[in-house]
Amino acid sequence: MEASNLIPSILFLFFLFSLLQTSTIATIATKKPYIVYLESQSVYADSKHCSIQQVQEFHYNLLGSLLGSPEAAKESILYSYTRSFNGFAAILNEKEAADLARSPQVISVLENRGRKLHTTNSWRFLGVEDDEGIPSNSIWNAAQFGRDMIIANIDTGVWPESNSFSDEGYGPIPSKWRGTCPDDPSFRCNRKLIGGRYFYKGYKFAGGVLNATSVSIRDHNGHGTHTLSTAAGNFVPGANIFGHGNGTAKGGAPKARVAAYKACWPLIPEGECFDADVLAAFEAAINDGVDVISASLGGGDQEFFRDPVGIAAFHAAQQGIIVIFSAGNDGPQPETVGNVAPWEITVAASTTGRNFVSNVALGNNKILKGSSLSSVSALPQFYPLIDSVNAKFSNVSEFQAKFCGKGTLNPKKVKGKILICTAGKITGVEKGYNAAEAGAVGMILATNIDNLEEIKPELYFLPASGITYSDGELLDDYINSTSTPVAQIMNVRTEVEINPSPVVAAFSSRGPNPFDKAILKPDITAPGFTILASYPTTRAPTRSGFDQRRTPFNVFSGTSMACPHISAIAALLKSIHPEWSPAAIKSALMTTAKTSDNNNLLLNATPFAFGAGHVRPNDAMDPGLVYDITVDEYLNFLCARGYNAIQLRRFSKQPFVCEKSFKAIDLNYPSISIPNLNVNAPVTINRRVKNVGGPGTYVARVELPEGVAASVEPSTLQFSSVGEEKAFRVVVQNTGELKHEGYVFGKLVWSDGKHSVGSPISMNLRCD
Ligand SMILES: *[C@@H]1O[C@H](CO)[C@@H](O)[C@H](O)[C@H]1NC(C)=O
Ligand SMILES: *[C@@H]1O[C@H](CO)[C@@H](O)[C@H](O)[C@H]1NC(C)=O
Ligand SMILES: *[C@@H]1O[C@H](CO)[C@@H](O)[C@H](O)[C@H]1NC(C)=O
Ligand SMILES: *[C@@H]1O[C@H](CO)[C@@H](O)[C@H](O)[C@H]1NC(C)=O
Repeated sequence: MEASNLIPSILFLFFLFSLLQTSTIATIATKKPYIVYLESQSVYADSKHCSIQQVQEFHYNLLGSLLGSPEAAKESILYSYTRSFNGFAAILNEKEAADLARSPQVISVLENRGRKLHTTNSWRFLGVEDDEGIPSNSIWNAAQFGRDMIIANIDTGVWPESNSFSDEGYGPIPSKWRGTCPDDPSFRCNRKLIGGRYFYKGYKFAGGVLNATSVSIRDHNGHGTHTLSTAAGNFVPGANIFGHGNGTAKGGAPKARVAAYKACWPLIPEGECFDADVLAAFEAAINDGVDVISASLGGGDQEFFRDPVGIAAFHAAQQGIIVIFSAGNDGPQPETVGNVAPWEITVAASTTGRNFVSNVALGNNKILKGSSLSSVSALPQFYPLIDSVNAKFSNVSEFQAKFCGKGTLNPKKVKGKILICTAGKITGVEKGYNAAEAGAVGMILATNIDNLEEIKPELYFLPASGITYSDGELLDDYINSTSTPVAQIMNVRTEVEINPSPVVAAFSSRGPNPFDKAILKPDITAPGFTILASYPTTRAPTRSGFDQRRTPFNVFSGTSMACPHISAIAALLKSIHPEWSPAAIKSALMTTAKTSDNNNLLLNATPFAFGAGHVRPNDAMDPGLVYDITVDEYLNFLCARGYNAIQLRRFSKQPFVCEKSFKAIDLNYPSISIPNLNVNAPVTINRRVKNVGGPGTYVARVELPEGVAASVEPSTLQFSSVGEEKAFRVVVQNTGELKHEGYVFGKLVWSDGKHSVGSPISMNLRCD
């Protein structure tokens, strides 16, 4: 659109706002940032329409007509979003926000909410490398290690000096890159770390305090360096933490280029990554020409049209960019999964079959299996044991003492002993620090009952070992059984190929999907437990003020660590199949995932924990068939959720005419979720598959739990060429035999003898 065409609408708005303003009695209200989405078809910057400056001017004039002058608007606007979406983030009071929302040009006005961040053995575990090197079927060969893919990470920034981001051996930057590197002598980009940006205005407004050093892409937290190196760090030999897990560190797409978009800052009560900043990061990444956006941060915990980051992800997907989010760390409670929009890939976390084992020997010859990443050597002999409750000062309660808090432990009782503490309130490292200060020679940390017997090894300062809740009870029994309890803490050993593995991590957030029971979430599982990756060398690995240790690698656990694994594999797939849509790539990841562990048993959980299963990168290259989804189908899905034309405009630049008969359950998703399956009320699910593997005949098989019957029509699909799409339907029936309500699970598999295309099915059985 030419600038002159803007004038009538601006004049109109000016008039409208003048009216609104005169009726506004000066309300004293606290101001805060709001995110304002504007009608897209009117103005947005691209070569055919307006320049960025013109769109910005439009924003100043539009808001200025409400605030009194374009200058006032300029001052209140934090960001103008001018390219992928049309809108701005501005500081407004409630009244101004409400007035703005009433303007015909304004689609929505959303609050700037805060989100939270959700941490090399894993690539071997996933089969892209083995003890002999790189097997011939490895996706690394076909994808040339992700060469010339660009992965964007929206996180806490990056540590540019890390060897993971050295550009030795890299050729020129791919010409599709349109981004930049800030002009900052203390932060240098190179041909590997090709760019970055930072966005802090939303954070600052929420109360975050920043100084001249911290306002930079440089990662002062460690999270962003860790996640980005997990996605695409170089091969770096001799990587370890305090000598543990020594080996060659590498990302999953080790030759891909990376760009860091810093939108997350030191945690304040409201969060660490604010919507206005994350949105600006999305817009920049989309515009810079990246292939994949990796976002290990929380959110998506509200209806899609109210979630600015989910809307931004939609625009990225619309432009062919694959967007990957972490599922969250609120497991194992049900209905905790976040980032659940169907155009996002939602990643759960699992173990990798590796553990850092530090056993505890007891005086009664029992051995308890413990876990540790202690920075000091183990104990050479047995020492007396004491429980922290019996080692407390008389002025503290048993409850306080249980958790080994600061000032609770009496050195007279602790000195020269191994102290037993209980997990909770403060970190295990801090408990160990308090124990050592009180003179303990070692510590045993018993976990609490809700951790599913899962022990995260921690970076203790003293010989220490974490044990399970049930072993904690055994330890209790032993102490009660003798007047002279003793124990010894053994050296840390790295164990691999642990049975069973993978196991979905206890902390990994679970389904069902809180917002749409017709979409199964999470989508897929990847390693996210004790992941070793790069870390800033100026930061303590525990991030504690009392920790003077420094290390270029660190171990973290979380769905944040699982997310970049999938981002890397998505980049590898895109490099092999540049013509595949983000939905096709997601489908390939999901339908080839495995649902059994190394004992060939079902993973210890349901699809609400692992989605379609545990990722198999080498198989994902050649899925045979994919479930593709067009942008219009996503919009029809939103129509089926009851979105009106105005809500839809947050997603679509053009007015969209809904297909009235479209049902949410029929979105061509690679998994199936039936929200209600009543007795004698069969449910029909429509899907279609696209051939990407060449001619073949596929036969359907359905695995179902007792009490459910299903048929697939047609049950055979014949394909003669690549690109061909065929529709089918699945009719599922609750036979009533089970007389049971609640979720049960099954699986649909299409197979041509060579490919196996699997989709999990979740069904909510109802008795009525
Ligand atoms: C600035 O912020 C950084 C990162 O939060 C912090 O490490 C540093 O101490 C601060 N510097 C000053 C001068 O306050
Ligand atoms: C790690 O392994 C490398 C190569 O095998 C070796 O040179 C190095 O000394 C090891 N480092 C540690 C701390 O064990
Ligand atoms: C309890 O008393 C000890 C020593 O008298 C003191 O060091 C400690 O801070 C006190 N703790 C609390 C919680 O008051
Ligand atoms: C051990 O003894 C304490 C009290 O002396 C008691 O509270 C606790 O329940 C006992 N534990 C077991 C496992 O018997």
